[in-house]
Amino acid sequence: MEALAEWVAKRSFSKTIILTDNNTARFCLPVLSQGLKIRFHHITIASGENSKSIDNATYIWNQLLEAEADRNALLINLGGGMIIDLGGFCAATYKRGISFINIPTTLLAMVDAAIGGKTAVNIGHYKNQVGLFAEADKVFINPVYLQTLPERELVAGYAEVLKYGLISDKGLWDKLKATPPQTITEWKEIINTCVSIKKEIVKADPKENGFRKILNFGHTIGHAIESYSLEAGNKPVLHGEAVAIGMIAEAWLSFEKSGLETPELEEITTALQSILTIKWPKKPDYDQLYDYMLKDKKNKDREVRFVLLMNIGDPEFDIYCSYEEICRALDYYFSL
Ligand code: GLY
Repeated sequence: MEALAEWVAKRSFSKTIILTDNNTARFCLPVLSQGLKIRFHHITIASGENSKSIDNATYIWNQLLEAEADRNALLINLGGGMIIDLGGFCAATYKRGISFINIPTTLLAMVDAAIGGKTAVNIGHYKNQVGLFAEADKVFINPVYLQTLPERELVAGYAEVLKYGLISDKGLWDKLKATPPQTITEWKEIINTCVSIKKEIVKADPKENGFRKILNFGHTIGHAIESYSLEAGNKPVLHGEAVAIGMIAEAWLSFEKSGLETPELEEITTALQSILTIKWPKKPDYDQLYDYMLKDKKNKDREVRFVLLMNIGDPEFDIYCSYEEICRALDYYFSL
């Protein structure tokens, strides 16, 4: 917190605006405002992925105008992936771009969304369809905010942590899979490891022309499941939960297409199922899921392209899978 206060004090921003959702306004803003010790404007929106919309972007731009924020203003994004993506998008476009910092409050945002400069809004239930690459001026990660998270959020966020093992380091995967998130009291080292891996990948390919795509393992099917469940309403799956399901189905595709061995497929399936304790009860409409996959940004020429694993820790990207193969991968997950 001191580092943040010092960082802000050193710069002469004309105004500071903090963006929260209603949860982070309640549970995290009191902690932040105590440490920050400056006057700020506060913008808040409803929590949940449905809030990552162009309507809310317009609301935030209007609030910035009303607060008379000029080009020297600072926007602080205090929240999970939705606030980070939406706030970054608004800051990067308001008056052609103002400074912003990310203070992620969920595990998922700490290890993924807050790092690497992706900002976006959804179009309806199609995820991240409009956005731009814009690096935050600074990211402050403080694991203290994890104490404000419901267990379900923490466990779902661990899916993104496990992903780093699967796409980059078998030794890390072995360690992580033996460590259920509920038993972790000291998060700093795990978060730092994930952030370092992500930074290396982003450095090699900042605009996702190729290699950065490996960060999307589990996300092609995962995003489709998330969109489908958001559209279905009542109790949508969380992003991390959808990614966990996606990683199991895409591990099966890896087995089918990329030479992943049966014991590794079984190891991934068992570990993800037991650690993340997710079971999506109802088999979805595969055609509708496939329609969401066709909107995935990694596609080319209306072909759905995947990140698949040749071995644990050893991914390849841009792998075409047919509709039939995708259906069989979904069958694998839904028959577990
Ligand atoms: N969340 C994936 C990426 O930042 O590329």
